[in-house]
Amino acid sequence: MEIKIAKRAEEISPFYVMELLGRARELESQGRDIIHMEVGEPDFPTPEPIVSAGIEFLESGNVHYTPAAGLPALREKIAGYYASQYGVKISPSRVFITPGASGALLLVLAALLDSGDEVLLSDPGYPCNQNFIQLLDGKSRLIPVEANSNYHLTAELIEKNWRDCTRGVLIASPSNPTGTIIDQAELEKLFSSVRSRNGFLISDEIYHGLTYGESAASALELGDELFVINSFSKQFGMTGWRLGWAVVPEKFTKVAEKLSQNIFIAAATHSQYAALAAFEPETMQEIERRQAVFKERRDFLYGELIKLGFSVPVMPDGAFYIYADCSRFTDNSYQFCMALLEKEGVAVTPGRDFGLVGQSRHIRFAYTTDIKNLAEGVDKIGHFLKSGGK
Ligand SMILES: Cc1ncc(COP(=O)(O)O)c(C=O)c1O
Repeated sequence: MEIKIAKRAEEISPFYVMELLGRARELESQGRDIIHMEVGEPDFPTPEPIVSAGIEFLESGNVHYTPAAGLPALREKIAGYYASQYGVKISPSRVFITPGASGALLLVLAALLDSGDEVLLSDPGYPCNQNFIQLLDGKSRLIPVEANSNYHLTAELIEKNWRDCTRGVLIASPSNPTGTIIDQAELEKLFSSVRSRNGFLISDEIYHGLTYGESAASALELGDELFVINSFSKQFGMTGWRLGWAVVPEKFTKVAEKLSQNIFIAAATHSQYAALAAFEPETMQEIERRQAVFKERRDFLYGELIKLGFSVPVMPDGAFYIYADCSRFTDNSYQFCMALLEKEGVAVTPGRDFGLVGQSRHIRFAYTTDIKNLAEGVDKIGHFLKSGGK
């Protein structure tokens, strides 16, 4: 008897970069040096005060479940962070601690979607969102976005694409893969367009705190009736601790609690205790230092990619990605990336992972490695291009 795999699960698309990573590991095991410019997580270790707080808690041995919504002290610290960082007052009762932003996205989407409900997303964008929506039997609609809107959705695009089955919009700013930030005036227009249709707005702010010009404004500055996703993963260098959060409107606190209890029971207890140290001045100073390092890398890599002949129409102002147009060299970025890995040992992510439109002429470069490695990677890319780019 054959046990069948659920159709919904089978239709989930894989991360294509995993194939490339698999090959990179194979090459490494054969002794090749690989320059990694595909990795979507900071290369820095978790800041010391966070690690110490986690160890201290673990040594107590009392590693039990926390309340489903998270440790009250951590929810309060996060509410305090919105007050100090953005000047926004929110009640800690609206903050839900989750296993990463991934858990927060799942929680919020599960609270919002019925079968067949449609969510508007940008193309290019973070690929897991569509898959979460599909798992919940919703529909995602990818809307191509261009340099003229900083690669973000606009009120105009929302108006054009809203249909009877559309329920809301999900944005991420700074964006993965483009690193670009949505203009605050545009976000305001977008939000009022969504509200006038009784729709929901989910704002994924996971790359806040990793911005290199002005800091990004939180969607919560626009009002309380929206959903914000964030995480300790990127800004606080805690990817492996699996800890994030969602801020939901007051009306959704009961349903979010019920869903958290059922889906996760609670986020990892030791990670929550560790994260209590994330907003301490000592940690925040270290985070600022890292932000300056990322800015230096961004400036370096951006300049070098332009010199090599890639086109980057909008300067990425956040995250740690540059989404470059490679159409001068190839009309198949996937093949280009595979060949670059084989020939030069440089791993970068082809556009294919981030959407449908324009994917074959884009590559995402991540500056999650130091300038010395980036410089070596750039030299090798230059050599690859000189020898035909194939
Ligand atoms: C835009 C965006 N949202 C959410 C996530 C998920 O992050 P995590 O679950 O590690 O917090 C990522 C990870 O790369 C991301 O790029």
